[in-house]
Amino acid sequence: MNLKELAVHITAEFQKHYGRAPRWIAAAPGRVNVIGEHTDYNDGFVLPMAIERYAIMAADAPLPGSVAAQSKITIFDTHFDETATIDVSAPVTKGTPKWSNYIRGVLCGFQQRGVKIPALDVAFLSTVPLGGGLSSSAALEVCTATLIEAVTGQTIDPIEKALLAQKAEHDFAGVPCGIMDQFISALGREGQLLLLDCRTRQTQLVPMSDPSVALLVINTNVKHELGSGEYAKRRAECEEAAKIIGVKSLRDATPDQLEKAKSKLSDVVYRRARHVIGEIERTVHAAEGIRQSNWPTVGQFMYASHAALRDDYEVSCKELDAVVEIAEDIGYKGGVYGCRMTGGGFGGCCVALVKADHADAITKKIATEYKAKTGIEAAIFASRPAAGATIIKG
Ligand code: GLA
Repeated sequence: MNLKELAVHITAEFQKHYGRAPRWIAAAPGRVNVIGEHTDYNDGFVLPMAIERYAIMAADAPLPGSVAAQSKITIFDTHFDETATIDVSAPVTKGTPKWSNYIRGVLCGFQQRGVKIPALDVAFLSTVPLGGGLSSSAALEVCTATLIEAVTGQTIDPIEKALLAQKAEHDFAGVPCGIMDQFISALGREGQLLLLDCRTRQTQLVPMSDPSVALLVINTNVKHELGSGEYAKRRAECEEAAKIIGVKSLRDATPDQLEKAKSKLSDVVYRRARHVIGEIERTVHAAEGIRQSNWPTVGQFMYASHAALRDDYEVSCKELDAVVEIAEDIGYKGGVYGCRMTGGGFGGCCVALVKADHADAITKKIATEYKAKTGIEAAIFASRPAAGATIIKG
C-alpha cells in the first residue's frame, strides 16, 4: 500500500473501531541504511533513506460523556487487534503492552517540554516489518510525535523531534541507539538519500533518482533484538577504543592512530574500531560514488561494509551472510552491484544495489536460493527514497 492507500485504509479502520471519522492522520516511514553502519554513535557519517513503509495513526478526541476517556490515550493496533491505554493526566511512565513504550516515551518527551497531552482515540497500523532492522520503532516514535504535533498545533523542529524520539528509545525501550533512525524518519526527502554527519547533525541530500538502478530490501525473516545487550556492548567497546587511542570519539581516529595503539587494545576492541574507522570513510566515498552514478564502486563499498560488520564488528548472522553470498554469486553480470546487511544486525535485512531491469529476476533468484540454503522464506521488496514524517490530515 502506498501512503495514500494507507491513509484510506486507516481511516476505514478508525471508522470501524470507533464508529466515526478521524480528525487527524499522521505517518512516519521506516528506513534502510545504504551504508554507514554502527557509525552514528561514534559521531560518524550515515547514508540512510526513508522507505515506502510507514507507521500511520488516525485519531480523534474521545467522545464527550465518558469521564474516564478524557484522561487517556487509547491506541488500537489494527493489525494485531490489541489495545494500549495510556493515562495522560499524570507524567507518562513505562507500561504494557511492550510496544506502547515507544509511544509512552514520546508522550513523556512532550510533557517534559511543557506540552499538555490531550486525551485521544487512536487507530494504528505499521507496514514496517517488526524487528526487521528497518526502524519500525523509530517510525512508531516519530509517527507518535507527528500526531501530537498535529493535535496540539505545537510543532517542534524536526531535529528536536528526532532527538525526542531517540530519548524515548533510550529511556523507555532500553536501547542506547544513535540518531540515524529517528533522524531519517523525521527528515527524509523523496528521491534523496541523506548523508548525515552525526556529530554536527548537518545533512547533505544525495539524489538517488537514476532510473537504471534500484535498491532491494531483503528481509531474512530472522528477527533481531537490539535490547539484548549486544548493541550496548558494541557501543561500550567503541568508547573504550576511543579512550585508549586518545580521541573524543572514533570519528577523530585515523587508521594510522589505530595501528599505533594496537598493542594497547584487546583484539576485539581493535577490530571494532577498525570497522568503525573504515566504515566512516567508506560512507563518505559511497555518497560521492552515488552522486557520480558510479554504481560498481558504490557496490564494492557495500560489500566491504558487510565483510567488516561480519568479521570485525560481529553483528551479522548466517542468514544475512547467506543473502550477501547469493548476491555476490549473481554478481555484476547478473545485475547486482553490491549487497550488505543493514541496520543494527543479528538478523533483519540486507540491502542490495541492483540494475533496475534485472530487479525482478534477482528478487526471484535470491528468494529461491535463500530458501534452499536456510529453509526460510525471505520477504523482498524494492523501495525508492520516500519522504519523512508527514501530517496527512489535521
Ligand atoms: C540501530 C540503531 C541506529 C544505528 C544502527 C546501526 O538501527 O537504532 O542508531 O546505530 O543500529 O548502524
